[in-house]
Amino acid sequence: MDRVPAALQETSPITPDPRYDRVTIALHWLTVLLVVTLWLLAQVWDLAPKGSAARHAMQALHVSFGLVLVATLTLRVVWRAGPGRRLPPADAGLLQMAAKAVHWGLYALLGAQAGLGVFGRWFSKDPLAFFWLFAIPSPFARDKALEDGLISIHDTIATIILIVAGLHAAAALWHHYVRRDGVLRRMLP
Ligand code: HEM
Ligand code: HEM
Repeated sequence: MDRVPAALQETSPITPDPRYDRVTIALHWLTVLLVVTLWLLAQVWDLAPKGSAARHAMQALHVSFGLVLVATLTLRVVWRAGPGRRLPPADAGLLQMAAKAVHWGLYALLGAQAGLGVFGRWFSKDPLAFFWLFAIPSPFARDKALEDGLISIHDTIATIILIVAGLHAAAALWHHYVRRDGVLRRMLP
């Protein structure tokens, strides 16, 4: 294979081991960290008695990190549509279609999850607050039935996200350990 000049290693489509750019990589792993933290918070507050200050504080933290996720997702979509580096598909044929469906599915699930969380909070009696610093006022009146309905769908989507992200992570590890084709490395710093 032709030697690729060092200056082109990061950007050229002909480099043998291209990587995503640093912003894409940072936003990917920040998303992972936030999703895991948000899920863990919901598991832990379930152990605290209903109505307790601890449970309330964990829910407020969940909403605050949730708003960080909303900002991260927005940045990620804008970055991907604009200057973010795109790489050729890691698979061909059916696997390529499956990978694409999983990636777009994850974006859609995360977007839906964020929307359900924000609207669920707006229909509740509690504020959509960012770390006790400020709150985004609700345009709606309180509606307990609607809040419960939205949060119940939010709960189901949380499980679906974990399953789909788990399959996605397993596929990344399969590429790394079985196919040894460098696909995982392109998303690593
Ligand atoms: C992938 C990201 C997320 C996951 C995995 C997740 C997970 C969960 C889970 C498992 C619950 C418990 C549902 C129940 O009690 O039935 C919950 C509740 C909730 N989530 Fe999320 N969530 C995520 C993102 C968000 C976002 C972005 C927001 C909004 C900014 C949000 C706002 C809420 C609210 C308001 C509740 C109800 C809390 C309460 O009962 O007061 N979540 N979430
Ligand atoms: C909550 C967990 C995760 C979410 C929501 C998530 C989401 C995503 C999304 C949406 C993409 C598509 C990027 C794009 O084309 O715009 C992607 C790519 C990628 N993810 Fe994840 N991911 C998660 C966890 C992981 C884990 C744990 C690993 C590694 C074990 C991983 C490895 C990768 C790799 C290697 C790519 C690039 C695949 C390619 O170039 O075709 N992801 N991820």
